[in-house]
Amino acid sequence: MSDTRKQIKILGLMTGSSADGLDLCLVRFSGQSRSPNFDVLFSHEIAYPISFQKSFRNPLELSDVEIAQLDVELGIWFASEISKLELDFDYVASHGQTIKHEPPQFTLQIGDPNAMVNKFNRPVIYDFRTADVNEGGQGAPLIPVVDQYLLQRDSTDVLALNIGGIANITIVPGLHNPAPLLAWDTGPGNTLMDKAVRLFTRGEMGYDESGELAAQGILNRPLLHELLKHEFYQLQPPRSAGQEQFGDKYFQQILKQFYPANDQEFKDLIHTLTVLTAKTISQSINSLASDYSPSSLNIGGGGAYNKTLINLLKAELSGIDIHEMNKQGVNQSNKEAFGFAYLGYLFLNNFTANLPSVTGARKAVMLGKMCIPQNDYSEAGVSSR
Ligand SMILES: Nc1ncnc2c1ncn2[C@@H]1O[C@H](COP(=O)(O)OP(=O)(O)O)[C@@H](O)[C@H]1O
Ligand SMILES: [Mg+2]
Repeated sequence: MSDTRKQIKILGLMTGSSADGLDLCLVRFSGQSRSPNFDVLFSHEIAYPISFQKSFRNPLELSDVEIAQLDVELGIWFASEISKLELDFDYVASHGQTIKHEPPQFTLQIGDPNAMVNKFNRPVIYDFRTADVNEGGQGAPLIPVVDQYLLQRDSTDVLALNIGGIANITIVPGLHNPAPLLAWDTGPGNTLMDKAVRLFTRGEMGYDESGELAAQGILNRPLLHELLKHEFYQLQPPRSAGQEQFGDKYFQQILKQFYPANDQEFKDLIHTLTVLTAKTISQSINSLASDYSPSSLNIGGGGAYNKTLINLLKAELSGIDIHEMNKQGVNQSNKEAFGFAYLGYLFLNNFTANLPSVTGARKAVMLGKMCIPQNDYSEAGVSSR
């Protein structure tokens, strides 16, 4: 083995579109190849304060001034929350909070790295999506390269599903299968269900705990039929979605078609939106070309806790073994934060990280930028750290 077993500890940070909070995962990587050994040393979730939740749930309504202020405030919040944990790391790799995602023009994640660089005196790698967008790609999804790293097998094809605000799927072909690795956003994950639950409970509940409200509702077939007509589901991959497609504006349109008149109808709406998520995921999987024959599906993201959703998926995908993501300390809660630690690792070792077959970029490029401590400018270089 050519690895010199160099070890680095990278703190991965993920703040997803659900705007529920910050997920962290501290990973020690050993080696310098694309597939280093790793140990998950620590994982944690920190809920956003209400003010951030409010701002980031409807990011398209923020003014330029608000965005600029939140960029700094969020960076300071990251630094102060992380410092309470007293962790030992060499680098931070931070996704940031997506405010706008408009490929092929631009994509914007905020959470200014300077406060963390100053507080920890460690380099911070950030802005992982722009380089791909600059190459004509969607800038998303980025986790498929992580799925490949974690899940690729010799002869079996494997599926990885992440159910965050938006849901996305990766098919990792076995090493003996010449078909390309594919990945795409299937449509809404939890985002529409979350909005319905918040409206129903007047903000008291942020989401449908274990899918219990959905379980008490029944399917509104005409509404589901209408919702499935959304043009996003007809697009061929590569495709990525966000608040632009499935944000508040779209939710208001749904309410115009069906405004629940009583508690039961609210539960029916939540149920129907849960079925929409399950159907659009399963249709995506069932439409895979015959070059792929996945036998298992690893689920990650907060939607993995929604029992009603998972049961619907199991019913739709009866031939596939469906289980929660669980590999060497990487599970449904920390996978994306782990993923950004790995993307940081790829950056530090000069590896490309986007997969043109999934983002549509013209070529594979390195992803990320690095903000380094002031004193490192005068030293030989941060890579010697
Ligand atoms: N116990 C639970 N029961 C049902 N849904 C849950 C539970 N915990 C989290 N979720 C769902 O997961 C979402 C957060 O998932 P997450 O993977 O953090 O998404 P994102 O990456 O978009 O932030 C919540 O908004 C909620 O919809
Ligand atoms: Mg989250």
